[in-house]
Amino acid sequence: MLILMRISATRLHRTISELSKIGRQPEGGLTRLTFSKNDIEARRYVISLIRSAGMNVFVDAFGNIIGRSRGVKDGVRTVACGSHIDTVPNGGRLDGAYGVLAGIEAIRTLHEHNANGGKALQIILFTEEEGARFGSFIGSRGFTRQLTQKAAYSLKDKDGISFRDAFKASSSLHLAPDAPSRLSRNMDSYVELHIEQGPILEHEHKSIGVVDSIVGLADLVIEIHGKAGHAGTTPLRLRQDALVGAAKIVTGVRIIAKATGGNAVATIGTLTVEPGASNVIPGKVTVEVDYRNSSAGGMKILNEKIILYAKRVGREENLQITHHLKSYTKPVRMSPRIMKIIEASADSLKLPSKRMQSGAGHDCQNMAQLTETGMIFVPSRDGISHTRKEFTEPKQLETGANVLLLTLQRLSNN
Ligand code: HGY
Ligand code: MN
Ligand code: MN
Repeated sequence: MLILMRISATRLHRTISELSKIGRQPEGGLTRLTFSKNDIEARRYVISLIRSAGMNVFVDAFGNIIGRSRGVKDGVRTVACGSHIDTVPNGGRLDGAYGVLAGIEAIRTLHEHNANGGKALQIILFTEEEGARFGSFIGSRGFTRQLTQKAAYSLKDKDGISFRDAFKASSSLHLAPDAPSRLSRNMDSYVELHIEQGPILEHEHKSIGVVDSIVGLADLVIEIHGKAGHAGTTPLRLRQDALVGAAKIVTGVRIIAKATGGNAVATIGTLTVEPGASNVIPGKVTVEVDYRNSSAGGMKILNEKIILYAKRVGREENLQITHHLKSYTKPVRMSPRIMKIIEASADSLKLPSKRMQSGAGHDCQNMAQLTETGMIFVPSRDGISHTRKEFTEPKQLETGANVLLLTLQRLSNN
């Protein structure tokens, strides 16, 4: 018989408010780039919360912070939850942070009621989920051995600082990486609670989203090489203008995504022009194409069409095109067993829920390569995320955390 309990809403709202003070920008959003001063301060705060929730703290070679119920042996099977606390530049206060803080609160409540069925509980704070500094999902790809430590450590940010050196700078946390044997990778299950970051739940007046699948997503870097030259003396017919080529590619990827149909989307969010002076014809432009689709086949089609089109632009504008995949994360389906447990938890709280796909990528789609995974959504006001306007009603944050609590309780007492 499962005992009835609820999280402490006061504690949850207090920790969300405390964490959202770290990395605040003048424009009102949050910027916590991986291993930056803000990220290290936020990590320090979350580590203190993990410890006060009755867990020991470990860190792995990717900087993932792992909390695990005290008093259990190394390598023991666990029921886990987690998310991330890094943000996009000037992002919101809930993306990732909500899942970490609600997870700590849920585990603390289960420990306080001794309601985890004797199972060890685990919370994981994944490094570099957003990819705003080094690349998407570094922590969860590393944790699930889809990315080697060597490959991760060699990644560089836009200032040429390597992941390895930036990680070393975070050693002020006095958390040197633990031996792999100390880290519990053998889990029964992993559940992630997250804001929806889209408009569906609000539009359909549902309190809980039961995620059934998550789109694949990739970050394709395309370099367009032309010839820098004087903006006044170089005749138009002799130019090899890399930015003109990039402009065609920017509009082209949207046309390709539209033509592909289904859930295909493609976005260019970064564009670097070199040498970057108004009176110099751009010699080189680098764009990053974020493309997503529901299936591996759909991802392959997008990749092929975008590269083919970029090469055609190269021929038309007499430019050299090079490209490489900076990251690729597979589309995944969530565990039917865990979806049913999430629905049962929402039902027991009389919360209307709905099965849905996630158009946002999440660490749990990497965790799905390691163990049974589930994902719980709560509504986002106007579907807004990745900006300072990200908002979810406090009551909805509380009910989402209680659904996570009851789901973890069911999973650890199964
Ligand atoms: O980009 C995403 O989908 C996630 O927010 N990192
Ligand atoms: Mn997120
Ligand atoms: Mn995000």
